[in-house]
This record gives sequence, structure tokens and C-alpha cells, in this order.
Amino acid sequence: MRRKACLVGLVLCITSAAAQVSHVESGPAASERWQRYNGWKFGMFIHWGPYSLASVEASWPIMTPSRDPQDPARNAISEAEYRALPSRFNPVRYDPREWVRLAQRAGQRYMVFTSKHHDGFCMFDSAYTEYKITRTPYGKDVAAMLAAAAREERMPLGFYYSPPDMNHPGYRDTTKPASVNWRGEPWRPEWPLYLDYMRLQLTELLTRYGSVAVIWFDGLDEQRKYDGYRFQRLVHELQPGALMNNRIGLPGDFSTPEQRIPAGIPTRAGTVGATNPAEDAGLSKQVPGPGDFQPWETCMTINDTWAYNRNDRNFKPASELIRMLVEVASRGGNFLLNVGPTPEGTIQPEFQERLLAIGDWLKINGEAIYGATYGPWQDLSFGRTTAKGRMIYLHIFQWPGGSLNIQADGVKVRRVTLLAGRRTLEFSQNGSSLLIRLPPDPPDPAASVLSIETR
Ligand code: GLC
Repeated sequence: MRRKACLVGLVLCITSAAAQVSHVESGPAASERWQRYNGWKFGMFIHWGPYSLASVEASWPIMTPSRDPQDPARNAISEAEYRALPSRFNPVRYDPREWVRLAQRAGQRYMVFTSKHHDGFCMFDSAYTEYKITRTPYGKDVAAMLAAAAREERMPLGFYYSPPDMNHPGYRDTTKPASVNWRGEPWRPEWPLYLDYMRLQLTELLTRYGSVAVIWFDGLDEQRKYDGYRFQRLVHELQPGALMNNRIGLPGDFSTPEQRIPAGIPTRAGTVGATNPAEDAGLSKQVPGPGDFQPWETCMTINDTWAYNRNDRNFKPASELIRMLVEVASRGGNFLLNVGPTPEGTIQPEFQERLLAIGDWLKINGEAIYGATYGPWQDLSFGRTTAKGRMIYLHIFQWPGGSLNIQADGVKVRRVTLLAGRRTLEFSQNGSSLLIRLPPDPPDPAASVLSIETR
């Protein structure tokens, strides 16, 4: 009898917990989630899959094969060849601890890994498909290995997950070439089965790999067909701390300008949609109030391709990447910088060098980046500003030598420090003008940072 009562109690208890979970977006509020993400500021994006074998872009060669001879990353491979790549994928030199350590040394504080790109190939051991990493010669769950390494090093890890899926017969009629129907066919009766497949796979990603920092959807166009709310609910239920981006037809926690930095500070008024510049409609050159700010993250490649491509030698110099990080931070965003690991599982030296150079810069100047947001002076000709608490950080791109004169209305300065060498600098304030005396040469030609402590 007593046992029965206990059981009933337990069942009631479980059902009421489940009811709560299903209605409420439980867990930390969106602003808290963003605060944490903004604290990390700089992350590593990883595009890796069997496509890495062929020096072609991820998925796009089969979706929109290019006829342009200048675009070898897309036209170098047929759909049949592309689909045969997993049978050769064997990244024997893959050591996820090396990736995590590289990210750490680069000053990156989170990582986002392609669990499934548009081609539908799963880089995790999903129970719901055979088109996956554990059916390659390598045979191991690379996502689980990365998650274990990240957990050991306390590195937050998130998953990129593509709603478009060229391999799933519920997404599109797979008897046709992907180039014909790559946008998906939501009018077919099979479509709900595809959404169920997504739900099952996201459940796997959100329950098997420890704590998930972010689910990074990449829904391309017509995102409403995915019924994003159900996935937002799922993410919140299973991982209340995880963020979700804006590429599944909902605003999510942050917007995602791709391969570009918005020209002003994004505001809620104008930032809708996914990747196109029209989302910049609500840009502000002025400083928006905290309630108007639209959280955002720029994702960017180091060369011109997301996937490993041995022919793409167009690497951005480290100094340019450092300035991009500063630009992004000065408008309140996060910076997700991509690497495409090799088919062997290593990260090529050109990427490593650049990442380490950014890491060296961050060792000196990190306090002006991590947890900082847009600064008060948005139209300086010689540099950018970030801000945190009572601190304003001045990132100087063009070093004037001698002295620097800034219009600093309403700001009372207590102390000015050059972060490199922690050197205190002389300054004077006269009305709204702030005059800072500088050493003749910049400590860092990419960006030298002054901290300005205000009262
Ligand atoms: C794009 C592409 C894709 C890449 C992504 C990263 O929209 O479809 O190949 O993964 O951007 O942002």
C-alpha cells in the first residue's frame, strides 16, 4: 500500500516537472545566456567532414555545382564522387586535444563543430542514419572525442547542425540530383518524418555529449518550413544554458552576419533574417541603449573557404584578423573564426600561425575584449573603442605618436594605461577634450590598446 502511494507520488512529481518543462523556457534568461557568450567573445568554428578529402567546399558542390572555371572548389567533383568520399575518410592524425589546446592558445573561449552539414553526413554516431562517421574506415565518433577533450579542458563546445539535408529522403526526393531540389520539399507527405529525424538527432546531440554551449543552425532560405519553435523548445528543455542562433526562422539568441562585420551597432529594430546585409537596416552609429542592442556574432574564414582546401592560399594576415576581432568587439559582437581541418585530422600550419598570433595579442590585450561590449566613441578615425564597467578601451590602429586628442563628453578620467607593459600614461582633460601623451612608437602595429579608467 505504502509502496503504491509512493509510486503515485513519484509519477505525479515527474508529470508535473515534465509539464513545467514543456511550457516554460526554463533556465537562465536570454540576457544571461548572452552575457556568458559575450564573456567568451572569440570562438573557433570547425568545418570538417569527408568533403575535406577533396579540397572542395562543404556540400555546395552537389547543391549548386558551378560552371565557373574560376570556382574549382565547387565544380571539381560530381555528386557520385562526392557521395563516395566517406568510404575513404580516415583521419588517422586526429587528436582533438590538440585542437582544443590550439583554440586555448589562440585565446578562443568556445568551439563550434559541424555535427552535420547540408550534405547530411553526420560527424557523430547518430542511431538514425548509416550516413555517418562510424561507417567510415575511421569508425570512431569524432564529435564524442572532441566533446571529451573539450570537457577535460573546460572548453565550451557547441554544435553546428544543418536543417537542410541532401541525404534524407524526407527532406527531398533523393532519386533526383541534389542540384534540382536542394531547397527541400516541405509539401511532400514525407516532410514531417524529416522534422522528426531532426528532433531525434538534436536530442542525441543535446543528451549524449555533455554540456552544449550553442546549437548553431544553418537553415539557408525559407527557414519557416522547419517549424523552429519546436526545436527552440527542445534546446531549452534539454540544455537550458545553451544558446541558439537565428538560422531556423526565429530570432534566437543572436544574429549571424557571415563573412562580414556590420557597419554599425546592430539594434533589435533592424536585425531580422539570417545572413544578408539587409539585416543591417537597424544599424546605429550612436550607442544604443542596452535594451535596443541586438546580440550578434560574425563568422569568418581565415582564407576564402569553410572546408579544407589545399588550393586556397588567400590567407588573411594575422594583423587583419586582430583588427577584425577588435571591430567586432567594438560593436558588441562575438567573433567565430573558422578552420577547416585536413582530411588527416590536423589543422594546417597557416591557420595555426595566425591563431597563435591572435593569442599573443590577446595575452596582452584580452581584458579589452573578453566580456567587453561596444565602446562610447564609434567614429574615431584612428581606432575603435570597447567598454566594460568603468573602463573604456581605446584600440589604436593608426598610432599618431606624440599625443592623442579625443572628444570625451561627460567622461571623467582617473587613469590611462597602455596595456602593453602596463605603463601609466600622462593625460589632461579640458572641457570635453581629453589629451593623452603617447610614446613615439606603437607597441603593436595591428592594434595597441589603452585602458581609460573613468570615475
Ligand atoms: C553558409 C554555408 C555553409 C557554411 C556556413 C557558415 O551559409 O551554407 O557552407 O557552413 O555558411 O556560416
